[in-house]
Amino acid sequence: MYSFTVNGQPVTCEKDKKLMNFLRDDLRLTGTKDGCDQGSCGACTVLINGKASKSCLFTLSKVQGKEVTTIEGITERQKDVFAYAFAKTGAVQCGYCIPGFLTSAIALLNKKPEATEEEIRKGVRGNICRCTGYVKIVEAIQIAAKMLREDTPIPQEPENAKLGDDFKRIDAVEKTLGTGQYVDDVVVPGMVHASAIRSAYPRARLLKIDATEALAHPDCEAVFTAADVPGNNKIGHLEFISDWDVMIPVGEVTRYVGDAVALVVSATKESLQEIKDLVKIEYEELTPLLSWEEALAEDAPKIHEKGNILSHEHLNTGDVDAVLAKSAHVVTQHYSVPINEHAFMEPECAIGMPDDDGVFLYTASQGIYDEQREVARMLGLPLEKVNVESKLVGGGFGGKEDMSVQHHAGLAAYLLQKPVKVLLSREESLKVHPKRHGMEMDFTTGCDEEGNLTAMKAVIYSDTGAYASLGGPVLQRACTHAAGPYKYQAIDVEGTAVYTNNPPCGAFRGFGVSQTAFATEGNLNLLAEKVGLSQWEIRYKNAVEAGDNLPNGQIVSRNVALKESLLAVKDVYEQAPYAGVSCFFKNSGIGVGLEDVGRSIISVEDGKIHIRSSAAEIGQGIGTVLLQVACETLDVDASMIVVEPPNTRRTPDAGTTTASRQSLFTGEATRRAAQKLRYELDMGRSMDDLEGQEFSGEFSAVTDGLNSDKKNPVSHAGYGYASQVAVLQEDGKVEKFVAAYDVGQVVNPRAAQGQIEGGVAMGMGYALTEKFPMENGYVTARYATLGLLDATKVPPIETMFVQARGIKDGLAYGIKGVGELATIPTAPAIAGAYFAYDGKFRPTLPIEDTPYQKKKKK
Ligand code: FES
Repeated sequence: MYSFTVNGQPVTCEKDKKLMNFLRDDLRLTGTKDGCDQGSCGACTVLINGKASKSCLFTLSKVQGKEVTTIEGITERQKDVFAYAFAKTGAVQCGYCIPGFLTSAIALLNKKPEATEEEIRKGVRGNICRCTGYVKIVEAIQIAAKMLREDTPIPQEPENAKLGDDFKRIDAVEKTLGTGQYVDDVVVPGMVHASAIRSAYPRARLLKIDATEALAHPDCEAVFTAADVPGNNKIGHLEFISDWDVMIPVGEVTRYVGDAVALVVSATKESLQEIKDLVKIEYEELTPLLSWEEALAEDAPKIHEKGNILSHEHLNTGDVDAVLAKSAHVVTQHYSVPINEHAFMEPECAIGMPDDDGVFLYTASQGIYDEQREVARMLGLPLEKVNVESKLVGGGFGGKEDMSVQHHAGLAAYLLQKPVKVLLSREESLKVHPKRHGMEMDFTTGCDEEGNLTAMKAVIYSDTGAYASLGGPVLQRACTHAAGPYKYQAIDVEGTAVYTNNPPCGAFRGFGVSQTAFATEGNLNLLAEKVGLSQWEIRYKNAVEAGDNLPNGQIVSRNVALKESLLAVKDVYEQAPYAGVSCFFKNSGIGVGLEDVGRSIISVEDGKIHIRSSAAEIGQGIGTVLLQVACETLDVDASMIVVEPPNTRRTPDAGTTTASRQSLFTGEATRRAAQKLRYELDMGRSMDDLEGQEFSGEFSAVTDGLNSDKKNPVSHAGYGYASQVAVLQEDGKVEKFVAAYDVGQVVNPRAAQGQIEGGVAMGMGYALTEKFPMENGYVTARYATLGLLDATKVPPIETMFVQARGIKDGLAYGIKGVGELATIPTAPAIAGAYFAYDGKFRPTLPIEDTPYQKKKKK
């Protein structure tokens, strides 16, 4: 028997177990989050005798007789102050990490009420945040500390939420205090637990599954295999390339270590592993293909029936070789970038429930209608028999576009007619979900005597891993953006995405552009040196302006301020002893002739204005963006608005949260819906008159296909542009970043800054420290070995906004996406800074020979 106190109340437990599990599962104190269960992320931080402690590292025997305080047990005053400070500063995005930060901050401030910024950063170094870049979290803790010291009353929050107002996020308080519900925080009566058995090998023939012993376990509810799937065993984000098995059928060959071969369902979470261990599986191990070169070898076995090439792209706008031959300077360089992990804080979780003759799911993904479509196909049901509601999403960054747990939860719930939760452990999450593509790239770029770019040629190979996921579109964006936002006479870009037996690769903030931007920008720096220009000068000379052609032929619209962004960072670049600069662009919207629709319904219910859209809120703040668009259009206060969570029964299909599209697409749809309500109000009808009425808005972008024969095709509805400068100190560490962004109309400056700061910090990790360790197709990465930056490692990040004039009249008031662009220029800017620092050109990521690499022991 173990006895201790939790939040001042005595508690006892017969069995020894992890404190985190006891708090979450037994006491239902779900403000303590399970991020990694390995003591590496800090999301489960609680106070033990006043000391910040990771509750996943403590068993109950270790807290015998001690005082445990969770986020629920802090004082009301602390709750009010921290909720105010975190909301005010915009320190909350996906929110999954925040209760852990808050608990660490309280431990620090109890000891050091006047903690300096440096002490705060050190005090929270055990907590990882993947969204914010720490800038606003540290600011929030500083504000909270001052308020607590000076006993300041909580200021009233303004209700004004028009475009450009720093309105506090609608979900800030519940996320800060841990009261908001993520899927794993939900318990449904009668719920059982399921978990997949993964392939023991990257590539092996599955010979036999014997579940006899497992089924005899008293807690075992079922062991399902591919033979139990009632509909289509193949899923896939892109319906036309559904190549991903729900489970690998007996007799067939596995494609990576994340493949599910059986699904075990247990009455209890605790006995799941025990039952999984009782399932006997026989394989014939086969040699895996672990690189694109191996997969393209003539005698390579086929990973998929159609072969090992997922997709091939070729963009050409002229005789590149002839232009290069006449160019004064030409550089050719090979670049290599690795597979990279999203490391979102919330591991994947879904709950499936029987619902008449269909299923209902609680999920946390980037698009509930994607889940509806894929689960319905798998079950062989019409769409309307599968319904989905999103709970809070603890980060995604592209990594939650594919099915990971939803299909298994839906399948088990449908077959068993019971609610079923599927939760991935962090280890499983790292193994299963698609990553950012590793790419090998050969880039040749030419310019004239003055440094005017002439032509560029690129050959790109991406390792797309075991399944298609979004590997095709990622390769496309890598290619369409490979020349950068610059003017050329001709370009030629060829890309190939190749299946291997590595984990699948798909969407990740930047969507292929992070990789090719690194190469494009590297070549510009090499050319600048040859011509005798600075990194800044060659970019300014070649940057596109309104009316110019982008390399893909699209005419640059009036809503562009790329040169302005370069001018905004010019002084800091020129005045720093060692600095690198990068400018880049990123599309808003899927484009290239594909269906791309934002939808929103505005309804009047109980005297309030409801915004109903399925746009997934994954931390970027789309709910608050839509609220501000509605307030602007309707000229009402925020207190009049209710933003509903995505639910297939209530909210129309607004497409996936991807391609930096939601602010523009669903923003415009919401504006259109709100305009209809505004018309009624302007006609003199009252809210009472309009009670129960719905107003629909839809925006569909018309774009041209990739190989359109139009002279100036419209590839995308819009583009954001940005410049970043990385400044190095004398010791070679990054001193600061300065970022200037053209994201069109800024909706909420604090939120947009937060996106950029988080993107820069993520880009810095990609550039300098992040790795995804694998050995022969086996994932050996753990959360602690990903190389994620903590608060002490991220330097100051200054952000500025620039924009073209008169843009507010455009679509969605001129709003453009910022999510992906936030991270793209950072790695090239850092590489440029090191080139300036010691003259050594570094064409691989993570960048080598910097103070951020641990010295190898001799
Ligand atoms: Fe910190 Fe998302 S807000 S991980």
